[in-house]
Amino acid sequence: MIVPLGQADPAAVETLLDEAFGADRHRRTAYRLRQGVAWLPALSFAAIEDGGLVGTIQCWPIALSPAAGPPRPINLVGPVAVQPGRQRDGLGRRLMQAMLDAAGDRADLVLIGDPEYYGRFFGFTADATGGWSVPGPVERHRLLARLRPGASDWPVVAALGPPLPPALAAAG
Ligand SMILES: CC(C)(COP(=O)(O)OP(=O)(O)OC[C@H]1O[C@@H](n2cnc3c(N)ncnc32)[C@H](O)[C@@H]1OP(=O)(O)O)[C@@H](O)C(=O)NCCC(=O)NCCS
Repeated sequence: MIVPLGQADPAAVETLLDEAFGADRHRRTAYRLRQGVAWLPALSFAAIEDGGLVGTIQCWPIALSPAAGPPRPINLVGPVAVQPGRQRDGLGRRLMQAMLDAAGDRADLVLIGDPEYYGRFFGFTADATGGWSVPGPVERHRLLARLRPGASDWPVVAALGPPLPPALAAAG
C-alpha cells in the first residue's frame, strides 16, 4: 500500500534510509542540496506492508540559480529507498509513479541517481544538466532531470541549491 509519507513513523523512515544507503548517507551531495529544507508532503510517499515500512520516496523544493536572472524552483527527488529484502519487486517503481502522478505536468524534477533505472523507467536524462553545478561531488551522468513538457528556456549554466528565502528571491 502506498500512502502519504506523513502517515509513516519518522524514526522508521530514518532506519530504512540507513539500511538502503548506509549510515554515512548524510555526507552525500544530495543531502547538501536540501540542507535546511523540509520535504514536500504532496510529493513524498511510503510503501507499507503488514503495517511495516518497506519503502519511501521524498521530494524537496530547491532552486536552480542561473548566472544572471532569478532562481527558478525545481523539485529534488530522493532518496528513493526500498528495504533491502524487498528490492527488485516493483516497489521502487510504484513509489516513483505515485510521485509522478501527484506531480503531473506541473513540476520540474531533478535527482542524483542511476540513469539505468531513472532513465529507463521514468524518462530522466542528463541532457539539460551538463552545466548545472551542485554543492559537492557528482558524477555528471548521474545528475538527471525530467523537465515539464515544452519547457525550453532552461539555463545552460546554473547552480542547484536550497531555495532562497522569499524576501531575498523577490529582491533578486
Ligand atoms: C533503486 C531502488 C529504489 C529500486 O527499487 P526496487 O523496488 O528495488 O526496483 P523496482 O522493482 O522498482 O525495479 C526493478 C527493475 O529495476 C532494475 N533496477 C533496480 N535498481 C536499479 C539500479 N540501481 N540501476 C539499474 N537498474 C536497477 C532492476 O534490475 C529491475 O529490472 P528488471 O525489471 O528488468 O528486472 C531500490 O533498489 C533501492 O532502494 N536501492 C538502494 C538505494 C538506492 O540506490 N536508491 C536510488 C538512489 S536515490
